[in-house]
Amino acid sequence: MELNIQNLHIVVVICFLLIYLVKTFLLLSDKKEQLKKFTKTVKIPEMLISLLFLATGIYLLAKMPEMTPLLIVKLGCVLAAIPIAIIGFKKGSKVLASVSVLLLLAAYGLAEANHKKMMSAPVKELSNKNDGKEIYTDYCQKCHGEDGKAGNMGAVDLSLSGLPDSDILALLHSGKNNMPSFSKQLDDTQASAVAAYIKTLRAH
Ligand code: HEC
Repeated sequence: MELNIQNLHIVVVICFLLIYLVKTFLLLSDKKEQLKKFTKTVKIPEMLISLLFLATGIYLLAKMPEMTPLLIVKLGCVLAAIPIAIIGFKKGSKVLASVSVLLLLAAYGLAEANHKKMMSAPVKELSNKNDGKEIYTDYCQKCHGEDGKAGNMGAVDLSLSGLPDSDILALLHSGKNNMPSFSKQLDDTQASAVAAYIKTLRAH
């Protein structure tokens, strides 16, 4: 479910960016008539896209495990870009329109960087390196939650999972979609320890 929303968000953002890139291009190249025509043509789709942009964005934000600095700067760029774009195109200001598109592009780049960062947990110094619970708290909790039910970033509810050990270990090794690979962080003993721990979170 969350993954579909994430994909939808990305598609919507790309459409939004394309519309603004075309508009900005037309404005910068003084094609006033074409800009008017284009603006009129995309008016309804643009409204829908903006709504979806907002709705999917808010949804995903609520499912973000933590507000990283990258994420905050990204949000700042988006929130600044929108009023600047509205004013820029209303006034036909080339500078403001360009600034808004640049802010949107920057936000897109920051989102990508943030996602990459969320997906690569640093290797941590664990006080008891084979304690499944400690490994879970340090590496898994931000997405799965203390009780396994949080579902951040599209994570599966671990209390409902019936995955056998071999599949858990394979998943920890290779990752899948938004579930990162932990092959660098956890050795085989640690992977088995955390696999045993998450099974204690299952509803009996
Ligand atoms: C960045 C977020 C994130 C972190 C951190 C994370 N997971 Fe996940 N996890 C996910 C997502 C997303 C899925 C769903 C993957 C899919 O099938 O699309 C998932 C799925 C799983 C599943 C599969 C459950 C099932 O029944 O399909 C297990 C088991 C699991 N995670 C264990 C762990 C363990 C153990 C850790 C820590 C070592 C961990 N996860 C850390 C996001 C995360």
